[in-house]
Amino acid sequence: MGTSVLPSLMKLFLDTANVSEIRTAADWGILDGVTTNPSLVAKEGRDFTEVLREISTIVNGPISAEVVSTTSPEMVAEGRKLAKIHKNIYVKIPMITEGLKATKALSSEGIRVNMTLVFSSLQALLAAKVGAAFVSPFIGRLDDIGQTGMEIIEEIKTIYDNYSFKTEILVASVRHPIHVKEAAMIGADICTVPFNVMEKLPHHSLTDVGLERFLKDWAKLSKKA
Ligand code: G3P
Repeated sequence: MGTSVLPSLMKLFLDTANVSEIRTAADWGILDGVTTNPSLVAKEGRDFTEVLREISTIVNGPISAEVVSTTSPEMVAEGRKLAKIHKNIYVKIPMITEGLKATKALSSEGIRVNMTLVFSSLQALLAAKVGAAFVSPFIGRLDDIGQTGMEIIEEIKTIYDNYSFKTEILVASVRHPIHVKEAAMIGADICTVPFNVMEKLPHHSLTDVGLERFLKDWAKLSKKA
């Protein structure tokens, strides 16, 4: 009889640099990590290192921090600095040829890289070949231009399974709960979601109606007693 290997559960990350959103989701007990990007950090208007340190006190899981340089030597230097901030930092590197070089160099030093701005399964294949820990395909931005973003998640899953790549598929640029459900059905490793999507996940109108009815019926019983 063969031994069965249980798949790990899809991890849920918050796609934000807002610490109050991170605290709220962490309190719900469903938060496994955080992804940031330069736009999200700029929105907060705070010192980047300070924000990353604060996030690391709230979440005990991967925290992605992106480089803003575009040549391999500069990205490697920036990545090393970011990785020193906390043991849970994953360095986000853009999918460009200089980024491939930087990812290979950082990965060989044991620094975990999240290759970002990925829009095709071929780009994801390259990310895995250079040793990225995570690959971030941007689903919503593909949907925005009339392509079905989730299709590339299926393709990446097939390619990674074909060759037993260890790179984890991190579904990014998520716009609504259906993206989260589809990511889980495909078997993606991680889904990173903005706070407005995260707060929708536990809700269903029938849950609210059902709870209201249970409580009303219970109150009638206590009046009778
Ligand atoms: O953090 C990367 C990605 O999730 C960005 O999403 O909504 O700006 O396309 P969005």
